[in-house]
Amino acid sequence: MLTIGFLGGGNMAAALIGGLLKEKTEDLTVHVVDHHAEKLAKLEALGAKTHAEPGDWITACDLLVLAVKPQTMKAAVEPIVKLLNPKGAALSIAAGIEAGVLSGWLGGYPLMRAMPNTPAMVGAGIAGLWSPKGMDESLREAALRVLRAGGEVVEVKNESEIDLVGAIPGSGPAYVFRFMEALEKAGLKRGLSEESAHALALGTVYGAAELARVSGEEFSLLREKVTSKGGTTAKALEVMNRLDIDRMMDEAVEAALKRTAEMKALFR
Ligand SMILES: NC(=O)c1ccc[n+]([C@@H]2O[C@H](COP(=O)([O-])OP(=O)(O)OC[C@H]3O[C@@H](n4cnc5c(N)ncnc54)[C@H](OP(=O)(O)O)[C@@H]3O)[C@@H](O)[C@H]2O)c1
Repeated sequence: MLTIGFLGGGNMAAALIGGLLKEKTEDLTVHVVDHHAEKLAKLEALGAKTHAEPGDWITACDLLVLAVKPQTMKAAVEPIVKLLNPKGAALSIAAGIEAGVLSGWLGGYPLMRAMPNTPAMVGAGIAGLWSPKGMDESLREAALRVLRAGGEVVEVKNESEIDLVGAIPGSGPAYVFRFMEALEKAGLKRGLSEESAHALALGTVYGAAELARVSGEEFSLLREKVTSKGGTTAKALEVMNRLDIDRMMDEAVEAALKRTAEMKALFR
């Protein structure tokens, strides 16, 4: 039997709880606490046991997923420290609060950190998990089970790599949506209907990602396969290279990392 609790029942918790409880399992109990009755009603319909307040149920949790916004984390964990299961651990999915700081707020409680992303809402997420040396193996497995409920998981060796997971797949869906907006605008400007421009941009990104996933080939090789010498694609790529798309992405990721560092400093 595994008992998993969620502190906060917002978007990310709902995505993970939905995945965890998709198939009826006898071996899993999921608890969740949130301030909002309407969020709790939806989570209850998924099969979670819902609570308006922390209580004894926290002590029953093997793994407690900390799924509140970073700025509300300290106030949210303070009342639960005395209730924590001494044989359990916590999994924080909050960006920008280091394990040393958060574990301190939790009275030294064992803590793992993860960074999921919003495609977890449709089971197509990719998350990073960091667990410290000495973490109980069954609790690490429980954290993997939570994250796999939203899609794939990559385990990272160093906690600092969680920042990179935040800056690449964490924020990354927004980078891709921005690219899709630009592609859609290029079509609209040249007379496509909104519906067509939207469908063509979406289909392009979905199809390219699926082809890359199914074929397993390098992105560069896949690009070369679409690009005939002197053809239309080659001309378009010349423009993207002239405008330095590598530099654009590099600076974007650097800016996200800089902001993460600023946030971490605020919580120290
Ligand atoms: N969304 C993403 O793309 C993403 C990706 C990776 C990681 N994350 C992380 O995941 C965490 C949750 O994000 P989210 O987008 O799911 O946020 P969210 O939708 O705001 O959900 C957080 C929920 O927790 C509730 N809450 C706050 N304090 C509480 C307390 N003391 N007791 C019970 N419930 C409490 C909030 O209620 P109130 O609104 O009343 O405060 C809210 O309903 C954040 O730390 C974020 O950094 C998010």
